Amino acid sequence: MVEGVAHMHRIAIYPGSFDPPTLGHLDVIERAARLFDRLIIGVGVNTSKAPFLTMDERVEALRACTSHLPGVEVELFHGLLIDYVRTKNAKAIVRGLRATADFDYEFQMAMVNRRLAEEIETVLLMTKWEHSYLSSSIVREVALLGGDFTGLVPPAVADMVAEALRRRGSS
Ligand code: PNS
Repeated sequence: MVEGVAHMHRIAIYPGSFDPPTLGHLDVIERAARLFDRLIIGVGVNTSKAPFLTMDERVEALRACTSHLPGVEVELFHGLLIDYVRTKNAKAIVRGLRATADFDYEFQMAMVNRRLAEEIETVLLMTKWEHSYLSSSIVREVALLGGDFTGLVPPAVADMVAEALRRRGSS
């Protein structure tokens, strides 16, 4: 046996904007939590998307819907993803894949991240079939247009989305 391997902790980062987290995200989190000893969900800024929930609300919502999963933590991260991954001593980046439409974007991101850090692998996990149509932008659109979004997000997130809608309505 290679010395030290028995004590090696496999740490992965699951980065995303999670605005808001969906049942699809939760499905990926549950799958990744089974593969790694520690899974750190990193809530980051995607500069090409207009924000809906605040960053703190996303962290709070993710903590609430992952509290049943040991080894899962939620944090904010700023700057380059790969710098954050290195700071955490993680060796893998987890991303979810729904349909083939996601592939180009994920492939490009994985290749850029590999160029920046050859030693870190991107692991793509397929979501459940039932969630393959779900996205945060679909949830935002349904919510903003007054549709029922409760079956698309975990219950703790639904409360947060409802609160964000009330805030918008009263401002
Ligand atoms: O859920 P998203 O919006 O697809 O997540 C995208 C995110 C936040 C993971 C990505 O934009 C990111 O990593 N941002 C941090 C800046 C960075 O490292 N960019 C280069 C990655 S190719």
